[in-house]
Amino acid sequence: MRHFNVAVLGAGGVGKSALTIRYFRDDFVSSYDPTIEEIYHKTIVIDGEVCTLEVMDSAGTEQFTTISEQYITSARGFLLVFSLAQEASLQEVRKLRDQIYRIKGPQAQSRVPIVVVGTKSDLTDEREVRRSTIARLSAEWNLPFYETSAKRNHNVEATFNDLFRQMYTR
Ligand code: GTP
Ligand code: MG
Repeated sequence: MRHFNVAVLGAGGVGKSALTIRYFRDDFVSSYDPTIEEIYHKTIVIDGEVCTLEVMDSAGTEQFTTISEQYITSARGFLLVFSLAQEASLQEVRKLRDQIYRIKGPQAQSRVPIVVVGTKSDLTDEREVRRSTIARLSAEWNLPFYETSAKRNHNVEATFNDLFRQMYTR
């Protein structure tokens, strides 16, 4: 049985927990309760093979500490999360990506499964991150980006499935 160990990383309040809870419980949490650390488990089937998932929803406020180094060391795949309504949160994704490649070592760029997730796509009036910025960064970083809404359940399943598919094939 294959086992997939994933860390969900990104700035505080961008919607990491809402995304994770939508995927695991099909529910939306509208209140903001900062996370310390939550671990979720699930079993999925890919190409007829049973795979167990362990997804660690991290604390955004603890970024760039030794804690996030430990998360990066122990996880094999990553969801790097920013808010479409907060351009500055993309900078955290850039730093996390660099940190992952540094910690995972040579050839990490071609080997480490990563999906970049823009959240809160339903907040169209508050949107700060342009489609063109996403297209440019996706090409520059050579990573898939997804625009999601945990509130409207838009693209959440597709985001996780892309990551698990990468982990299955690498
Ligand atoms: P930390 O645990 O502190 O790092 O924050 P987080 O990244 O886990 O953010 P969280 O999921 O707790 O969401 C923060 C706030 O944004 C909450 O009030 C959520 O309800 C809200 N939120 C998250 N996702 C969405 C979304 O897709 N749409 C809307 N409208 N609000 C969202
Ligand atoms: Mg959280």
